[in-house]
Amino acid sequence: MIWRTPTTMASRGQLLVLPLLLSLLASHSSLIQLSWAKTVSVSDTEQLMPEPRAYSPDAQHLDFVYHDHEELTRFLRATSARYPNLTALYSIGKSIQGRDLWVMVVSSSPYEHLVGKPDVKYVGNIHGNEPVGREMLLHLIQYFVTSYNTDQYVKWLLDNTRIHILPTMNPDGYAVSKEGTCDGGQGRYNARGFDLNRNFPDYFKQNNKRGQPETDAVKDWISKIQFVLSGSLHGGALVASYPYDNTPNSRICRSSALCAMFQTYSAGPSLTPDDDVFKHLSLVYARNHAKMSRGVACKSATPAFENGITNGAAWYPLTGGMQDYNYVWYGCMEITLEISCCKFPPAYELKKYWEDNQLSLIKFLAEAHRGVQGFVFDPAGMPIERASIKIKGRDVGFQTTKYGEFWRILLPGYYKVEVFAEGYAPREVEFVIVEQHPTLLNVTLQPSKYLLPASSASSSSPVVSQQQQQQRQVNGKLQFPPTD
Ligand SMILES: *[C@@H]1O[C@H](CO)[C@@H](O)[C@H](O)[C@H]1NC(C)=O
Ligand SMILES: *[C@@H]1O[C@H](CO)[C@@H](O)[C@H](O)[C@H]1NC(C)=O
Ligand SMILES: [Zn+2]
Repeated sequence: MIWRTPTTMASRGQLLVLPLLLSLLASHSSLIQLSWAKTVSVSDTEQLMPEPRAYSPDAQHLDFVYHDHEELTRFLRATSARYPNLTALYSIGKSIQGRDLWVMVVSSSPYEHLVGKPDVKYVGNIHGNEPVGREMLLHLIQYFVTSYNTDQYVKWLLDNTRIHILPTMNPDGYAVSKEGTCDGGQGRYNARGFDLNRNFPDYFKQNNKRGQPETDAVKDWISKIQFVLSGSLHGGALVASYPYDNTPNSRICRSSALCAMFQTYSAGPSLTPDDDVFKHLSLVYARNHAKMSRGVACKSATPAFENGITNGAAWYPLTGGMQDYNYVWYGCMEITLEISCCKFPPAYELKKYWEDNQLSLIKFLAEAHRGVQGFVFDPAGMPIERASIKIKGRDVGFQTTKYGEFWRILLPGYYKVEVFAEGYAPREVEFVIVEQHPTLLNVTLQPSKYLLPASSASSSSPVVSQQQQQQRQVNGKLQFPPTD
């Protein structure tokens, strides 16, 4: 494909200040759309559960107040009824107390995956007593649907991305949380007392915590949709924190304050092979935020983060976090966004939080359009599903979708990609990433001469190379060799 200079540079959003990069991305992506737009039914990949479509005036107006589960549900239903061309509402499961875990898709193709275009997500309120993110995500939905026709940047984003928004992952915890409570644990946990951000399988340590319905719902969700980019919203600090959250040498502090203190001072960073990308993504959020990148400490006793970002383990290591799981198992680049010093600030501050975070929330998602994207085909031009892909030197891999698609966020430079698929000869392809637009790369694999032994890969395994997969099965237990 030849990159043409865009002939029209439409006037951009009134609200957003737009850098050249994303203007170019927008124009190029509309060119991509012409040749790539191929609509495929979603029914067999995602279980969308459309809701009854009764008109409600709520969709037009969203106050800066906290919405309980019923109000949140009413808002989402009303919005999906009012904006059927831009939204689709589905539930990924229920909390222990039976509250739906609603996901709103916002996109100009809400019901259908557009082949070649990335899916991204936000998750809010995983800790029930940290609800600023939950309200921010409702406002983000509202902003997207009301500005699609007036803001060129939002239109470009929604035309080229499917944005899945889970405003609350822990509605039961929220139900017992108290407005105005800045610290403490009440409402943090789910209804059985589990911390959901310690409840995922872990790359470094065995996690013996019993899987909770909310966690299982999210695991199931991200196993079905190949998310490229994700943000998880928290409160209690002001920082963008990136993987790994855990480290090979973390110690578990049960109750000893001394141990916790030792750990705080001894924790070092635990860096992924995509550290440059994670730092960049975190900086995109922090720099577009009204004050995060200033790196001011919330209190005198809490750390100040340089540029408003930190490696998760360098702050404090934890086992069973969601961001490490997204990255290691599915190659989804998730970071943790701590957006309020007070966990549950009074409602009158919500408007200010929205003003502080609005640009960050939008710009961060656009980063899914940076890097390499393409397809893996067989010689007949048929897509190869679950081909394993690894950027050379970055040992955390990922897999193609059922349409043979892949995406990887990368910064400008020269790269090699390694592509493996059962029954095909592995291939290595070189490519270049530039700042101005994503690199499109299609890879055709030739059948291998000799049949390889059947792989035991399953969709619930971390995405690792073939060699790593063989090493992984020891004593029937999952073993993960540390990456360099
Ligand atoms: C890659 O394959 C897609 C899907 O068949 C096609 O639309 C696109 O033009 C191809 N891109 C390149 C750079 O060959
Ligand atoms: C949705 O799109 C269809 C087809 O483009 C159009 O006819 C219809 O008016 C749109 N509906 C709304 C509510 O915008
Ligand atoms: Zn939290």
